[in-house]
This record gives sequence, structure tokens and C-alpha cells, in this order.
Amino acid sequence: MKTRIYQIDRYDPDIEKLQIAAKAIRDGELVAFPTETVYGLGANALDPEAVRRIFLAKGRPSDNPLIAHVASVKEVAGIAVMNDLAKLLAERFWPGPLTLVLTAESIVPPEITAGLPTVAVRMPANKVARELITLSGVPIAGPSANRSGRPSPTNAASVYEDLGDSVSIILDTGPTEVGVESTVVDVTGDSVVILRPGGLPVEEIEKVAGTVQYPEGEKISRRSPGTRYRHYAPLIPLVLLRHDSDPNDLLGSYESSKIGYIGIREPSFDVGEKILFSDVTSYARGLFTSMRSLEKTQIEIIIAEFPDATGLGLALRDRLRRAAGEGSTKKIP
Ligand code: TXA
Ligand code: MG
Repeated sequence: MKTRIYQIDRYDPDIEKLQIAAKAIRDGELVAFPTETVYGLGANALDPEAVRRIFLAKGRPSDNPLIAHVASVKEVAGIAVMNDLAKLLAERFWPGPLTLVLTAESIVPPEITAGLPTVAVRMPANKVARELITLSGVPIAGPSANRSGRPSPTNAASVYEDLGDSVSIILDTGPTEVGVESTVVDVTGDSVVILRPGGLPVEEIEKVAGTVQYPEGEKISRRSPGTRYRHYAPLIPLVLLRHDSDPNDLLGSYESSKIGYIGIREPSFDVGEKILFSDVTSYARGLFTSMRSLEKTQIEIIIAEFPDATGLGLALRDRLRRAAGEGSTKKIP
């Protein structure tokens, strides 16, 4: 069936279109929806058959669990346990780019949790996403709406490019604001464990919840299965330009007209295409779109500036390392 793409005002959504999308969710279909981070591929989180369709459409390994999206803190009660730490963070940062890994209630199907005793929950800041959840009357399971391994989609065209007609409806509210996925934290213990740096800077979390922990090596891939896979990769190679790297070592034998550059600082070498950002916030917002646009040009390799590890720089470093195919069990900061 041909995908319907509905353009919707994110601040003043057309409720009739959202009702059609909510019915599709209840009928077990896939609906791509906007969040402030990236577009999600939504299905009824309590319907195992619908959730299985997400994995099929994305080509996602079934041992990688999904986030359940809710429209209010109250709705979490049906699917997971909120301890005091979880309540504190939800109170301060929801709706927003923070995903809480919580102890799951038994109603949550193993298709969502990949058999783990926990479930990841998040309340997105985009009003269209929250209205969709409310009208559907169920939590919505939603990974990023890209083919597994590809850069996440920050606009509706990228969703359609990757998933084509396997999605019934795409709700299009234009480009997303944050551009990288949510920060995923495990809060089942006494302190916050960062499983995936993302759109909410770790420094913000530390202001509220004290020093955070980072799982290391083997442990991280066991606790957050998604971190095990190569991810976010464009179709052409991407290499990292660290502050101390010698560009000549990276450029190899590529002609300068075939080299694409993304980063904040002007490159010190000749390139065929460059995409410059004014700061880490706009670098994060534009990262995935630049990868997707450069791979459609004559460019054969992307040189990406590796930013400092502060603020959104931490999430950028994580996504860039994976896009470059570097080991996923490295220490996060
Ligand atoms: O911003 C976002 O988080 C977007 C939007 C659509 O909400 N979603 C997203 O979903 O990025 P996805 O599936 O691409 O990434 C979810 C991450 C994966 O790394 C997954 O392994 C981890 O969250 N995760 C999910 N459930 C988990 C659990 N129970 N325990 C540990 N990690 C979990
Ligand atoms: Mg993803």
C-alpha cells in the first residue's frame, strides 16, 4: 500500500489527520512520527505482531530493544516502575530528549524489551507525537525510522527514502530540532548510568542527579544492546578529524574534489564540498542530514571534525565514531 504523508503543523496539529494515524496504530500498522530528536517508526507497544513489523521494516536485529513513548508521566505506571530517581528526572526533563530505562511490568511484550527485565520509556517534546500517543490510547514503540545501520532520519523525506511503502503513514512536521537521538540512562539503581549519550547533555543530568556512571567495555553492550551494532553510517566512508590528526594521513589518495567535509572549523585543506556549522548544537542538528546529502553527490569520502566531549559534543562523538566504524565498546567520554 502507498504511504500517506501528512504535513502537519507541529504547534497546531490537524486533529482529523492525527485521528486517522491513531486508528492505524490501533489497527497494528506502522506510523512514522516526528519527535524533537529524530523521526520514530511507531507501532502499538502492547501488540507483539505490530512490534514485529517494526523489526521487519527496519531490518533490525531482534535482540535490540525498543523505546516505549508515552504522553504523560501517569502513563508510565502501566508499563514500568518509577523509583524516586526516575521521578526526579522525568519531572525535570520530560517532555524532552531523555529516555529512562526502568524495571518493566509484565504487560510489556518481550518483543519490546528483547527479553530484558527492563523497558526504555520516553516522553517526546513534539506535540504531534504526544497527541498521536494520546489519541491511540496505547504507548507507542518507536525506534528511529531509518533502515538499521543508516543515519537516523531528521525529516520525512529521509524516512521515506529508507522505509518506502512499509510505513502506512508519515506524519511530517518538518526538520527535527535536536538532530541526534535521546540520551538513554539506566535509573534502576541509585545513580544514573549513561547507556547512550544524546540530545540531553550529561552536564544537565548531573546538575539534578549528581555524578553519573558509565558502563565500560563488555558491560555496555550487554546492558544496552543497541550499542553493539555499527550504526549511523553513510554509504561512503567517513573518517574522523581529531584536533591532533594530520589531515594528510586521512586524505590518502582521494582527489580534493571527491572529499567532503563537515565540522565547525574551516578545513585546512581543499575539499569538493563542505558543510560548516556555527556550534555543536547546529552540528548535532545537521549531522545526519549532511551525511545523507553528501552521499548523493560526487563526494567519495567524508572527513568529519571530532568535537570536544562537552555538551552535545559527547553525543556527536558517539555517532561519529560509529559512523566511522570504530569499536563500539570504547569508553563513552
Ligand atoms: O530520540 C530517540 O531516542 C529516538 C526517538 C524516535 O524517540 N528513538 C531511538 O530509538 O533512537 P532506537 O531504537 O534507535 O534507540 C534506542 C536505544 C538503543 O540503543 C537500545 O538498545 C536502547 O535504546 N534500549 C532500548 N531498550 C533498552 C533497555 N531495556 N535496556 C537498555 N537499553 C535499551
Ligand atoms: Mg536508531
